[in-house]
Amino acid sequence: MGNIVIKYQEIDNWELLSKDEKKLIDSARDIAQSAYAVYSDFYVGAALYLENKQIVLGNNQENSSFPCGICAERVALFTASTNYPNLLIKSMAITAIPKNFNLDYPVAPCGMCRQVLLECEEKQGADIQILLFDSKKIIKIAKAKDLLPMYFKENKLKRK
Ligand code: THU
Repeated sequence: MGNIVIKYQEIDNWELLSKDEKKLIDSARDIAQSAYAVYSDFYVGAALYLENKQIVLGNNQENSSFPCGICAERVALFTASTNYPNLLIKSMAITAIPKNFNLDYPVAPCGMCRQVLLECEEKQGADIQILLFDSKKIIKIAKAKDLLPMYFKENKLKRK
């Protein structure tokens, strides 16, 4: 019988965060407010911290044709890949602000976003730390690979 364990650290003392981590968290919270989430009323923000200290933002973008929408995490990751393909992504902060209810735990990225995040990590050959947070807690995950055990990867799908 196999067994999968996801390693993470739960933090409720914000003073344990570095200045840069606090800034990244504030950026994710701010950008969540301007998500285009008119159908779900679920506002998600993602902020990436690049190796040159630059922050790249994303928020969820919805559409009346629901499947056209995209999550905050992938907006941020694809924006970084488009605009800064040669800069390492060091960490990512993610938060959700639902309009109609309160969260009792920080939201974790969906499966599709984990898959994209993982390939970004593999492509750059360096870990991406993940910070999931709400108003009370921060969940720290050391790398994308920890978040998606037994992930899809097929080496025979050759890159050109
Ligand atoms: N959403 C994200 O932006 N990130 C996630 O990890 C999960 C869900 C968005 C998609 C949709 O706009 C709304 O939240 C409700 O699912």
